[in-house]
Amino acid sequence: MFNREQLTFATKKYSIVKIAEEILRRRTFGIVSHPDAGKTTLTEKLLLFGGAIQEAGAVKSNKIKKSATSDFMEIEKQRGISVATSVMAFEYLDKHINILDTPGHQDFAEDTFRTLTAVDSAIVVVDVAKGVETQTEKLVHVCRMRETPIMVFINKLDREGRDGFDLLDEIEGKLGLKLCPLSWPVGMGAEFQGVYNIWNSSLLLYEGNNKQKIGNSISINDLNDPELEIKIGKEAATSLRNEIELIKAVYQKFDKNEYLKAKVCPVFFGSALNNFGVKELLDCFVEIAPSPQPKKAEERSVDPNEEKFSGFIFKIHANIDPKHRSRIAFMKIVSGEFQRNKNYLHVREKRELKFSSPLTFLASKRAIVNSAFPGDIVGLPDTGNFRIGDSLTSGENLNFKGIPSFSPEHFRFINNADPLKSKQLNKGIDQLMDEGVAQLFTLESNGRRIIGTVGALQYEVIQYRLEHEYGATCSYEQYNSHKALWVESKDKNQLDAFVKLKSRYIAADKFGRLVFFADSAFGLEMAIEKFDELIFHEKSEY
Ligand code: G4P
Repeated sequence: MFNREQLTFATKKYSIVKIAEEILRRRTFGIVSHPDAGKTTLTEKLLLFGGAIQEAGAVKSNKIKKSATSDFMEIEKQRGISVATSVMAFEYLDKHINILDTPGHQDFAEDTFRTLTAVDSAIVVVDVAKGVETQTEKLVHVCRMRETPIMVFINKLDREGRDGFDLLDEIEGKLGLKLCPLSWPVGMGAEFQGVYNIWNSSLLLYEGNNKQKIGNSISINDLNDPELEIKIGKEAATSLRNEIELIKAVYQKFDKNEYLKAKVCPVFFGSALNNFGVKELLDCFVEIAPSPQPKKAEERSVDPNEEKFSGFIFKIHANIDPKHRSRIAFMKIVSGEFQRNKNYLHVREKRELKFSSPLTFLASKRAIVNSAFPGDIVGLPDTGNFRIGDSLTSGENLNFKGIPSFSPEHFRFINNADPLKSKQLNKGIDQLMDEGVAQLFTLESNGRRIIGTVGALQYEVIQYRLEHEYGATCSYEQYNSHKALWVESKDKNQLDAFVKLKSRYIAADKFGRLVFFADSAFGLEMAIEKFDELIFHEKSEY
């Protein structure tokens, strides 16, 4: 017989082992791309492999169509759909995979940046004909800043596109990534026959002329095998041999550790629409992609294997039911096991909260979850308790780092259009900013409020939501500024002198941090030159 102490010890040990096993099974990642490169199509094909959906078309596109840019009601509707597709979990080869959706539309880029703080790795989709596009560049830049391991999927090989080597050069040059091709296309467009998988030396060919049907993959250990000519023809076989030889000469051999350190990115080719080359990508992904990683808090680094629970809010989705101002706060679990109906510490507010109906997301379905593990994303129904970046723990005072705000690109004064509703307006602005819809700055000189956004669309969304959810009306006035920069310095005298001289352009952000509105690139250059002890940051976390 065990005594009570021994039993407690055994239960604790069992729970640590269970959590460790669950962590090793987790793969939490995001797919990033410029709109139209094929992110939604690829996501859908991955879910099909995981059996999370049964047919193509089941995942509603989360992208905000170009045609909708002037119709924010439509955008809100689409954002409503995107709650369901914000996280998609599925099981594949005994791995538990969480895909975090990232809006491709540039006006919601900030949303995507924040989501990238919750992924352990990323897959970048590039259109073979269009190559590297602006949005891809921005998003990959964020991944690189965070040293997120990246895999690249070059899509739409069934169409005429760019030469493979040129494209790899462009990706390396523009995205600053070191690449290592793990698959290579046999032909392209009308000539596209399939993909040679360098990772496991096999050849995957379309069946006959039917681009929707995939034949069996053939193991080709030696590319000089005469079988190759029989399968793909003499010309294609010669090209493939030459190209693979060139790849081996030019690109270094794949090293998993280098990938995990975000020093090299494996590349796959295929066609998401035709479900071609996707399984190869997924098989390699589950094998090499990292399980949940330690995360830095201001106080210390937190390891996923720690027994005590901790997590952080990286996204808040409002408007689930506009009448009740209901929201869902998305939390990534960093360590320990999260349990339903258990008290946790809301660190910023220093009070305990418990959740009776936390949600998980399976493909397009939501379900109440009883327990979840590091790497998982849990949706917490919220009535205004949370702010992006908030931490929740088993009791420890931990503040997770790494959810920066970036300098917005558009600035407008916000004015109250109905003096009787100033309370409602203030509350509305406060909550929308907590959700991360936009950034609020208050000018030091006159207390006027400026809303900064990444896209012009946000102003319409804010105005509409203030009116419909808070009963407040606002008007805007253009504020011309080149950039908003967070300023710091160890030299207090110089900082004071700067603030005095530039008082018209000095503001505080929502957390009271000092922000400088540079009126032009030249003005900024001059300020940097003159005040050489000041540091000007383009993002709020430094
Ligand atoms: P996104 O989420 O990155 O914005 O892209 P999405 O998957 O919606 O794909 C954009 C368009 O590209 C879609 O066509 C999609 O069918 C097409 N596409 C995706 N993968 C491939 C591929 O491998 N080959 C080819 N030829 N096309 C591909 P659409 O006409 O804009 O939309 P839809 O009407 O097909 O939904």
